[in-house]
Amino acid sequence: MRRAYAIYLIVNLLILGFIVNYVWTLLSLLVVTGRSDAISRAELPGPNSPLPKQRQAVIPKIIHQTYSNTSIPERWKEAQRSCLDLHEDYEYKLWTDKSSREFISQEYPWFLETFDSYTYPIQRADAIRYFVLAHFGGIYIDMDDGCNRRLDALLAYPAWVRRTVPTGISNDVMGSVPHHPFFLRVIDALPRYDRNWVLPYVTVMGSTGPLFLSVIWRHYNSEGSHAEKDRVRILFPDEYNAHSWSFFTHHEGSSWHQSDVKLIMWMARNWIMLFVLGTVIGLSVIFAGFWVYARFCLGAGSPKKRASLRRLRFWRTQSSGKIDYELLDRESDHRV
Ligand SMILES: *[C@@H]1O[C@H](CO)[C@@H](O)[C@H](O)[C@H]1NC(C)=O
Repeated sequence: MRRAYAIYLIVNLLILGFIVNYVWTLLSLLVVTGRSDAISRAELPGPNSPLPKQRQAVIPKIIHQTYSNTSIPERWKEAQRSCLDLHEDYEYKLWTDKSSREFISQEYPWFLETFDSYTYPIQRADAIRYFVLAHFGGIYIDMDDGCNRRLDALLAYPAWVRRTVPTGISNDVMGSVPHHPFFLRVIDALPRYDRNWVLPYVTVMGSTGPLFLSVIWRHYNSEGSHAEKDRVRILFPDEYNAHSWSFFTHHEGSSWHQSDVKLIMWMARNWIMLFVLGTVIGLSVIFAGFWVYARFCLGAGSPKKRASLRRLRFWRTQSSGKIDYELLDRESDHRV
């Protein structure tokens, strides 16, 4: 009897262990700050510093932006203009639906099927920015981000992304040299992460958006420390848009948010309650399962019945074992 309880407990712990293992990257995002890779204000020259550049530029002078077509809506024209005016010596590439698809079909035909199959246009807009950075290098800037000063100082870092509060990194402004290993990793991972998570917001975030990028970033960094040229440096809010000397200004928000965002935001605001609720539900399931197990599998009965129940129990452990392996497979998918 006692052994049976122990087995029940162990099976539960195993399942819990696999779940934690599966979401480990997400949990780690809650505590990883990226501070050790920060582009610190101490190493950045002032916006109009007359001093010669301290660091050699490695990122090519190209600014990439995306929109469905070439008629940029009024609300973003000012932000777009601010970047163009400050960088007249940069090449400017606007990636429209049409030119993005042509580029993918010509240069990355292996991705065309995934690219075409995305449900939401924003997924294509997310994906194309990773491809053009991996291919041409340069700086990608969202249409709702304007430039507050020249970006030359940021050309000195082989790759950089922006930190988001409270967790992870964003894909709204990013810089990279061509063929940087991080962005190669990102484009390589895109087809594997093309999954539907029911809620549009979660699907977009997890398949192509900031959450996807953050997960790849965690995997990339958990492989150990990279050589300087392979590192991904992080721009923190102070340097991003918090001050008069920051690089960017943020304009009116994203164009694609749907009603499920309200649900996510609500969940974020009420996370303590949801955490407690989740714990209570989780514990209830474990106790209810235990009750059923004790009542029906360990209960009195004829030796024959007990034997058949034992078989049933055996089958159960088998089947839960199978689920565990599936989880493992998915985890190793993520890790590749
Ligand atoms: C450009 O795209 C926007 C948004 O998808 C659309 O509303 C607009 O009609 C398009 N303009 C042209 C000229 O196709």
